[in-house]
Amino acid sequence: MFVARRIPAAGLDRVIAECDADVWQDPMPPSREVILDKVRGCDGILSLLTDTMDAAVFDAAGPGLKVVSNMAVGYNNINTSDAFDRGIRIGNTPGVLTEATADMAVTLLLAAARCLREGIENVSARQWKNWEPLGFIGQDLGGKTIGIVGMGRIGLATAERLHRGWGMKVVYASRTAKPDAEHRVSAVRLSLDALLEQSDFVSVHTDLNESTLEMFDASAFKAMKSTAVFVNTSRGGIHVSEDLHDALVSGEIFAAGLDVTNPEPPSSDDPLLDLPNCVVAPHIGSATVSARNGMASIAAANLIAGVRGENLPHEVIPEN
Ligand code: DGY
Repeated sequence: MFVARRIPAAGLDRVIAECDADVWQDPMPPSREVILDKVRGCDGILSLLTDTMDAAVFDAAGPGLKVVSNMAVGYNNINTSDAFDRGIRIGNTPGVLTEATADMAVTLLLAAARCLREGIENVSARQWKNWEPLGFIGQDLGGKTIGIVGMGRIGLATAERLHRGWGMKVVYASRTAKPDAEHRVSAVRLSLDALLEQSDFVSVHTDLNESTLEMFDASAFKAMKSTAVFVNTSRGGIHVSEDLHDALVSGEIFAAGLDVTNPEPPSSDDPLLDLPNCVVAPHIGSATVSARNGMASIAAANLIAGVRGENLPHEVIPEN
């Protein structure tokens, strides 16, 4: 089998002990050509969100490929229909990164709302001369409205933090109603348009698919309040970078906090990276000890179960 990166020992040790594993050692992802070569004859692949898994990869592996175990909860890097057509099972790692990712969403929301980047850059540049009665003035959080786009596990954990901590009113947009969220944080389901219009903070937690691809474009940012903060800890493909840039420069929205970018990683000359009102982190929402150990351990368990022909502990099920 092919393991596309060194992962935490909580998973890697088990894979190495129980399987004949070829583990990619470089910290940079294997190139497309390398993947196509390495998977030849494999019965299992352990992939990361940076590794595209599609028909060409499955065909290169050949008919013995039984499972692709993705060390992520999101699996937009995998062409699921190409996999299911070939009887290949897909595993993902839900649950274990919920709290860590919700913490990151709140971190970015606070940092963006309170002009933290601008303040830190001012201090680092040795420009801090004075206590500024008119400087670095951010947005208040108490009693404001948080709009959650995609009310799954991470969306709800984020809403709970903001509702319990800052008394925020929670509104959400989701394909289906979420009675659990309505019960736990008194969340009110709205259309996306109504959510954008009413929210002081908008936090994205939906998966990336055909219907969410670039859903945050110029018109979405225009619909938001000029004091609004946009937070994306899900997938960069959900926002249009140029449109976000323009909305931040023109003051259509107040600030943004991103843990994901479009493309990812961004190019070195991406103008979004220069904006003082845009806080960008390098996709580290799940980067805590317990989240990453949990992800590695589930990814290993999915991989091993898959090559043995057993049910995966966390399997992506084909939609009808
Ligand atoms: C995931 O698991 O999909 C996350 O984006 C990783 O941090």
